Amino acid sequence: VDEFETPALIVDAARMRANIDAMAAVARESGVALRPHAKTHKMPEVGALQLAAGAAGLTVAKLGEAEVFADAGCEDLVIAYPLVGESKLARLAALARRARVSVAVDSLEVAEAISAAGAEVGVRIEVDSGQHRAGVAPGDVAELARAIAALPGLRLEGVLTHEGHAYATDDLAAATHAVAELMARAGADTGVRDPVVSLGSTPTARLAAREPGVTEIRPGTYVFHDRTQVAHGAARPEDCAATVLATVVSRPAPDRAVVDAGTKALSSDRLNAPGAPADFGALTSGWPVVRASEEHGVVAVPPGGELRVGERVRIVPNHVCPVVNLFDEAVVVEDGAVVATWRVAARGLSR
Ligand SMILES: Cc1ncc(COP(=O)(O)O)c(C=O)c1O
Repeated sequence: VDEFETPALIVDAARMRANIDAMAAVARESGVALRPHAKTHKMPEVGALQLAAGAAGLTVAKLGEAEVFADAGCEDLVIAYPLVGESKLARLAALARRARVSVAVDSLEVAEAISAAGAEVGVRIEVDSGQHRAGVAPGDVAELARAIAALPGLRLEGVLTHEGHAYATDDLAAATHAVAELMARAGADTGVRDPVVSLGSTPTARLAAREPGVTEIRPGTYVFHDRTQVAHGAARPEDCAATVLATVVSRPAPDRAVVDAGTKALSSDRLNAPGAPADFGALTSGWPVVRASEEHGVVAVPPGGELRVGERVRIVPNHVCPVVNLFDEAVVVEDGAVVATWRVAARGLSR
C-alpha cells in the first residue's frame, strides 16, 4: 500500500468476503432471495463474488451501471429507479435482449412508455413504505397493477421498496416489521400469484429476511459497511472493509492535522443515524475529520496525540457508496499485501 499515492481507496478483501458470506447466510437461512445493490461497489469483481456466494442477481440504480454488470456477465438485474426518456428506454430495450431485466415503476406513464419502447421486462411496483421519496402510496398499488398487467411486454412481478426512513429510527425492528407488513399487503394487491416482495437496506436486511411475506432483500452497503452501519449496530468497526488511505500534509496546530482527503475523497455525507456527530469520517484510531474542504480534511487530534507530516492514515467513511464513486480504482489488500487493483468500472455512470 505504501507504493500507492494518496488519497486511495483500500478494500480489505477478507473483511469484504466475510460481509458477503454473512449476508448470503442470512438470506439462505431465511429462505429469501438476496439481490445486492451494486451501487455501493460499482465493481464487476465484487458483483461476481456476491453472485458466487448465492445472490439471485444484482440491483442497480442506473442503466449505465446495469450495462457494465451485464457486460461482465450478470444475467439478472433489477433497475430500482424510474427510467424516463426515450433514449433511456431504447437502451433498456436493448439491455433486456441480452439479460433478464426488471425495473421499478411508480407511474402508469413510465410503464406505458417502457411498453411502447418495445422493452420486454419485469416490473416491480415501487411502493412508498415511509421514506417519502419515490413510490406509489400503498393504497394505489392495486389500480396501477391492473393497468400494468394489460400492457404488452411487461411482466408484473410484485412490489419493491427502499425503507430508507429506517435510518432515522432508533427502533429498527419496529420500523422493519411495519414496512414488511405493508409490503406483504401491497404484494397481495398486485394480483400476481406468489408476488416478489422486495425490501432493501442494510440496517434492516437481517430483520426483513425473517418477516413473513418478504421474498427478497436488496442491501447494498453491507458489502463494505461504514460508520453509519456501525452506528446502527448493523456492523462492528472491524467489519468496515473499505477505507480511504490519506497522508498527513500539514500539522498547523497541536490539535489539528490536515490530510489530503477532503470532500472529493470522503464525500460530504454525514453519518446517517439519529443524534450522530456532524463530521466527514474518522481515522481508524477514532479521531474524527471534523472539517473538510474539497482537498483538505481537518482531523481533530486529542491532547498529546501524535500525527506527523508524511504519516499515512486510514479513514473510515461515513457513507461508503458515494466514496467509492469518487475513485477510479480500488486497491485490494489481504494479509497486509496488495493482491489486486480493481477498476471501479461503473463509477460516474449516473445516466
Ligand atoms: C432502491 C434501493 N434499494 C436498496 C438500497 C440499499 O440500501 P443500503 O444502502 O442501506 O444498503 C438502496 C440504497 O440507497 C436503494 O436506494
